[in-house]
Amino acid sequence: MSVRPQRILGIESSCDETGVALVQLDEQRPPQLLAHALHSQIDMHQAYGGVVPELASRDHIRRVVPLTRQVMADAGLSLPDVDLVAYTRGPGLAGALLVGAGVACALATSLGKPMLGIHHLEGHLLSPFLSADPPEFPFIALLVSGGHTQLMRVDGVGRYELLGETVDDAAGEAFDKSAKLMGLPYPGGPHLSRLAEGGREDAFDLPRPMLHSGNLDFSFAGLKTAVRTHLVRLGWLDDAAALADPASRATLVDLAASTQAAIVEVLVKKSLAALKETGLKRVVIAGGVGANRLLREQLGRACQRRGIRVHYPELHLCTDNGAMIALAAAMRVQAGLAQPSHEPVFDVQPRWPLASA
Ligand code: KG4
Ligand code: ZN
Repeated sequence: MSVRPQRILGIESSCDETGVALVQLDEQRPPQLLAHALHSQIDMHQAYGGVVPELASRDHIRRVVPLTRQVMADAGLSLPDVDLVAYTRGPGLAGALLVGAGVACALATSLGKPMLGIHHLEGHLLSPFLSADPPEFPFIALLVSGGHTQLMRVDGVGRYELLGETVDDAAGEAFDKSAKLMGLPYPGGPHLSRLAEGGREDAFDLPRPMLHSGNLDFSFAGLKTAVRTHLVRLGWLDDAAALADPASRATLVDLAASTQAAIVEVLVKKSLAALKETGLKRVVIAGGVGANRLLREQLGRACQRRGIRVHYPELHLCTDNGAMIALAAAMRVQAGLAQPSHEPVFDVQPRWPLASA
């Protein structure tokens, strides 16, 4: 007798994106994404130059139920078909996390179904398993998001060893803060990357922080300070008119290209060092910065030369989304690791090391 597939609803609300998705788990088959929906708050926060936590929480409240309805309709199913409700338990903004956790627990309780809190970074880390070219364990994972820069050794679901991480700003923060200094909108990473096109990567002398530190840690705070120093020297710091002046553009394009090149070089070299140290032949790049084209090109080229396979999530699943949360829950259930609860648990974890998840 065949067992009915399990359907897992995933809710992501840790920062400025509300994501909902439905993943199906069949026996002996990789998890399948049935439907997913996303609302990005970027437009709302842009006026403030960064995420305003209270506004983020309120917007998650407005979006999460309509998005859930949309996902169920797109999958051609209804809520009683859901077997487990997964949500992001942390890390992230406390208020924003509480919205997702509250809705997930209320929904699961009213349906009489279990609920499961998931680590946001585990979602990012496992997201390439929804791609057309999923990785095999073990692999090195480079997690590069707005709040985290980590190198992990991944031996299986739930078996994560931290090899190195940033001691200050994350790579995404380095992109965002440098972009803000250059007068670009929030979130700066994709804007800086676009501005950098055609620029000279060696036009500005920028530091490659901790490149020769002898370990796998990162530091990006000094890079942002160096960008600031160049802008002071140019007389453009906090001068919106000078930054927007077409006469400044060629120099700004070079500064953006130099900044991006510095961040990418450190990420690539440290990833190669982690691969060399562990002897592993696979690397997974996850998190928003994983969408960066230069990073993909340079890491791809360096790995090809060394016979190393590089895996990415599908481009639309690089940034925050509900699919990765439902998927992580599905893989935890499949691995026999998850203990879904029938009791609502409101213990979100704004700070939460992945190794202890
Ligand atoms: O993983 P994510 O969506 O959210 C967090 O969990 O933080 O990552 C967001 C980060 C932001 O810092 C954003 O600027 C960066 O990812 N990002 C990029 C690109 N797309 C997103 N950075 C560089 N190049 C990109 N193309
Ligand atoms: Zn994220």
